[in-house]
Amino acid sequence: MTKNKMRAAGIIFCICLLFLGACEKNSPKTRDKLHVGVTYYDQSDTFMNELIACIREKMEGLGGKDLDITMTVRGASGSQQIQDDLVEEMIYGGCQVLCVNLVDRTDPSDIIELARKNNTPIIFFNREPVEEDMLRWDGLYYVGADSEQSGVLQGELAAEAIQNNKKIDRNKDGKIQFVVLEGEPGHQDTIIRTENAVNTLKKHGIELEKLGSGIANWNRAQAQNRTMQLISQHQGNIELVLANNDDMALGALDAYQKLNYAENELPIFFGIDGTDVGLEAVREGKLSGTVYHDKEGQAAAMAKLAKAAGTGKGMEDIPFQNKKYIFLPCTKVKK
Ligand code: BGC
Ligand code: CA
Repeated sequence: MTKNKMRAAGIIFCICLLFLGACEKNSPKTRDKLHVGVTYYDQSDTFMNELIACIREKMEGLGGKDLDITMTVRGASGSQQIQDDLVEEMIYGGCQVLCVNLVDRTDPSDIIELARKNNTPIIFFNREPVEEDMLRWDGLYYVGADSEQSGVLQGELAAEAIQNNKKIDRNKDGKIQFVVLEGEPGHQDTIIRTENAVNTLKKHGIELEKLGSGIANWNRAQAQNRTMQLISQHQGNIELVLANNDDMALGALDAYQKLNYAENELPIFFGIDGTDVGLEAVREGKLSGTVYHDKEGQAAAMAKLAKAAGTGKGMEDIPFQNKKYIFLPCTKVKK
């Protein structure tokens, strides 16, 4: 090549570079992508389905002109093994952050190990891992309700109702005969809600007599069965039903309706959650009260945290308690 030809080639090369640069500036910037994987313990859980719907809505709301957020949601059908496999699929499928509602909150080791190796942060929600597991890696967070407060508020609602209506003590012995319907054994909300509801009633000076309790795993049909058994043991003597969630409070009511109890022979029922059916039952006076489990607040906190943890931007704006936890308060609901 002659000197002149080389110079001409150089000039053309530079013009091309300038041209390419200009194209890049004028073309719209491609949006960053954030793929969020969500898995929850069981697709038949009423509250969880409502919470998941809120999470979808809040995640979509956080996308914008700079960020394209996509979500994969998978239920684990009550099996930790299935959930472990789902988490693996999601991580290898390109999810940059995971939201995990564990099936077994005491068994997150495999999930944590896999996430740590692949540097994929996890937001656990609603079913809280034990502290020892939460400390295994920096990329682990928890979002949930304040369990203790939900129990206290249920106890306060029941105490107010009993103090304001002498007829609730139907046998007029000065004590309230009660039963408890409990969620899954080992779930933080089961243990803490029951304990705090009962203690709060006592603190308010209500004399209690516990007739029995039944484990109904958050489930309406199981609560109906357990209540049928409790009724057959104690007939019309139950004056108060404390249920760890709305579905079980409604299941207890179903049992009385199935046995054709008259309105004035019914105990009073309290739930927790404020699900659509739960709130409707409070409106109709079938449940005496419930405690609103702030699914909108939890979903908003999860979406904001997922965006920050997944993009690495904005972590300093997250109001953590104890570095990795976000607990949202509950509120009382009565007619
Ligand atoms: C809710 C229940 C739900 C459970 C699932 C609890 O916090 O109150 O309704 O079934 O979480 O983990
Ligand atoms: Ca009584």
